Amino acid sequence: MTEKQTWSQRFESALHPAIARFNASISFDIELIEYDITGSQAHAKMLAHTGIISHTEGEALFNGLEQVRQEYRQGQFQPGVDAEDVHFAVEKRLTEIVGDVGKKLHTARSRNDQVGTDTRLYLRDQIQQIRQQLRDFQTVLVDIAEKNVETLIPGYTHLQRAQPVSLAHHLLAYFQMAQRDWERLEDVCKRVNISPLGCGALAGTTFPIDRHYTANLLHFDNVYANSLDGVSDRDFAIEFLCAASIIMVHLSRLSEEVILWASEEFRFVTLKDSCATGSSIMPQKKNPDVPELVRGKTGRVFGHLQAMLVIMKGLPLAYNKDLQEDKEGIFDSVNTVKACLEAMTILLQEGLEFRHQRLATAVTEDFANATDVADYLAARGVPFREAYNIVGKVVKTSIAAGKLLKDLQLEEWQQIHPAFAADIYEAITPRQVVAARNSYGGTGFVQVRQALLNARTQLIVK
Ligand code: ARG
Repeated sequence: MTEKQTWSQRFESALHPAIARFNASISFDIELIEYDITGSQAHAKMLAHTGIISHTEGEALFNGLEQVRQEYRQGQFQPGVDAEDVHFAVEKRLTEIVGDVGKKLHTARSRNDQVGTDTRLYLRDQIQQIRQQLRDFQTVLVDIAEKNVETLIPGYTHLQRAQPVSLAHHLLAYFQMAQRDWERLEDVCKRVNISPLGCGALAGTTFPIDRHYTANLLHFDNVYANSLDGVSDRDFAIEFLCAASIIMVHLSRLSEEVILWASEEFRFVTLKDSCATGSSIMPQKKNPDVPELVRGKTGRVFGHLQAMLVIMKGLPLAYNKDLQEDKEGIFDSVNTVKACLEAMTILLQEGLEFRHQRLATAVTEDFANATDVADYLAARGVPFREAYNIVGKVVKTSIAAGKLLKDLQLEEWQQIHPAFAADIYEAITPRQVVAARNSYGGTGFVQVRQALLNARTQLIVK
């Protein structure tokens, strides 16, 4: 027998060392240690408050737990695999510090409600940090957008030049995605912030505990109404992983655009040295590693979501050890999303330079103003579908003649349709093409300026 004495007298021999390692979660659930201590302190207070233990005992437990926290912070407490998991590790160290009273901590509680409590406290904290990072990301987007209301950039559908847009409008699209992410996390938090503490192993407890008391101490909004559900629910984790995956979708799409924009084919942005890397063999290269890594890391977060769904789908009530598998995916998703948000915010802030000259040329070298010619005719009484067909023909003959629409003579326009007048030239300049899309939510400058004001107002809400 090892000296480990976790289990009751029912067990005669110790775990096989390989099985002990297989079973242990301490290598990763140590991440929860401070939440575990905080949760246990609330539990100790409740035990004293309800008279299940004495006030002196409650205080001894509370202070002993605080000492475990300090020892951990100072690096003096580093539990190993023999502790199995963080919950046992803390309880064991506590008992070494405070003596036999430490053995009272686990009265009226199970590791099942304990681990659920810890994970929720952890996630609640992390969600607030991610939401703050989303705010920083949004702020940088708005900062850049404000300087680029009148910067035009080709807009695409099917990755084919479609209609030019204001660069600010383009960036604000990502602002809106991040805004939904920020709101979504707030909503997820409503389900994260429910206390399972006091659900016991699965059925509640014989002791006169006060679940609302611990929930209040730990700033939970509510308590689980059903103990079986409380110890085995991981919906909140699935929801978080889903929200995290959607954040990654958004960051990955922006990454893909930056990668395209930085290519020789687009040349819309220059990557600054602080955020780009070189090649070990090709001296001319400057690579967009940051957005590529963000795009690549998206896969693991999606994977964790899928894993969590699969872990849950066949589980009978209530707790099953399978649930120990929830943690690494949650931790890795949290760390990945935080790292990616930080990197993308820095990339936008100081790693990218839009090439204004190139953008200005790009919006004049194509037929992205063709819709505006059709709209011009439609506004003068030609049914839109008819106008659309007329302009389609014009584009065809212009391409054949190696001309752009702006190169056509007024006589040529008027041969096409008598409704054309000299103001057609102004109507098809990129600036006018953008300015004219003044419908609500469109790229027209008036709309974009209003959208910027709205964005600033949204950012005030923390
Ligand atoms: N390490 C376990 C986990 O992460 C704690 C709960 C263990 N409960 C049990 N009945 N074995 O899920």
